[in-house]
Amino acid sequence: MTIQWNEMIVPDARALRASEIRDLLKVAERPEIISFAGGVPDPDLFPLADFRDMFDGLTSDETAGRRSLQYSISEGLPGLRQWIADDLAKSGATRDIDNILITCGAQQALDMIARLLLEPGREIVMEKPSYLGAMQAFSMRRPNYVGINMDEDGPVIAELDAAFAAGARIAYLAPDFQNPTGRSYTLDRRMAVLETARKYGAVILEDAAYCKLSYEGESLPSLLALDEVGSDPDAGTVIQLGTFSKTLAPALRIGWVTAPRPVIRQLVLMKQAGDLHVSTINQEIALRAATKLFPAHLETLRDAYRAKRDAMLGAMDEFMPDDVSYSRPKGGMFVWLTLPENIDSRALLVEAMEDAKVAFVPGQAFFCDQSGQNTARFSFATEKPERIRAGIERLADLIRRKDNQ
Ligand SMILES: Cc1ncc(COP(=O)(O)O)c(C=O)c1O
Repeated sequence: MTIQWNEMIVPDARALRASEIRDLLKVAERPEIISFAGGVPDPDLFPLADFRDMFDGLTSDETAGRRSLQYSISEGLPGLRQWIADDLAKSGATRDIDNILITCGAQQALDMIARLLLEPGREIVMEKPSYLGAMQAFSMRRPNYVGINMDEDGPVIAELDAAFAAGARIAYLAPDFQNPTGRSYTLDRRMAVLETARKYGAVILEDAAYCKLSYEGESLPSLLALDEVGSDPDAGTVIQLGTFSKTLAPALRIGWVTAPRPVIRQLVLMKQAGDLHVSTINQEIALRAATKLFPAHLETLRDAYRAKRDAMLGAMDEFMPDDVSYSRPKGGMFVWLTLPENIDSRALLVEAMEDAKVAFVPGQAFFCDQSGQNTARFSFATEKPERIRAGIERLADLIRRKDNQ
């Protein structure tokens, strides 16, 4: 008998869908295309020589080298968790290492938290637009998405309040240099978000993936830092996700969750059941890299990405028609474009790749309600400033031609 695979696969797994945009964007990898599509760091900025020395140093040390190739505890290396706790403390979030779990990137943390806190039909509040990878992780649990609108200062509090009042008890939010818009919340809005969550006893899942990539102005305290827990390791409203993917290298696959202890304890059991622990050697290297290379490496990254952001915004200011608006991110990797209502960004992408040899990501996929047809995400992370300028000029020409049609 032939197996009916569609029936064998459980509904949770079937909820995952391949992205047609991903297929379309395969073409964007060709060298003649100037690509603003990728959401990845610039590989030229990976500290390759330092990694070579650190791997060499670690494996030349008989004891440490052998230990780094062995199994290790599911929570993550104590030394690495201590480094993270110390780093959080510098930004005003005092937490114990028992409040931290090392995960295989922040992406695994999203998946684990989805399995911990979501179930079919349970509501989760999402920013409109929001990180696509989070939606993919959450969709496996088939929750009900409650989208809330954003203004220049952050999420619209009346909408967050209404979502909680209607029964939602978890909100996934990215207050710093959000993927895909690059926008950040003001301090007042951060405080209002926390106050609203506390009013309803709701959980805030804070994604801090880009928080260290800040290019101007003062860094604002995270929601985790603002969530006063005193000395109680079991207390708190906020679960925060961190990662070394944007600051060291994504291939390390080192992320972490900072959360009240009852959450961490359960996640540790899930980690044990799922994949035991994150690669010991990669954790060792990440600890050595963070200790040795920060903060100087962070400055190098900020200078390089700031120059790219300036090239993109400068070119947009110079070339984009007046009816195109865009965000002015103070950090991160993305600029968010809003096109005239009559331009569908998916159709524009097809023309842009063929005609202008430029790629970007149409915005619709980032909305939990599939709105945003006339929006698009532009990454300035991987192209050189000259190519950024040339690509934006070519795309602006195309948009102007369409405007006149
Ligand atoms: C907002 C956000 N969160 C989480 C992740 C996942 O990062 P990683 O799993 O590499 O730590 C990404 C990756 O692009 C991201 O943009």
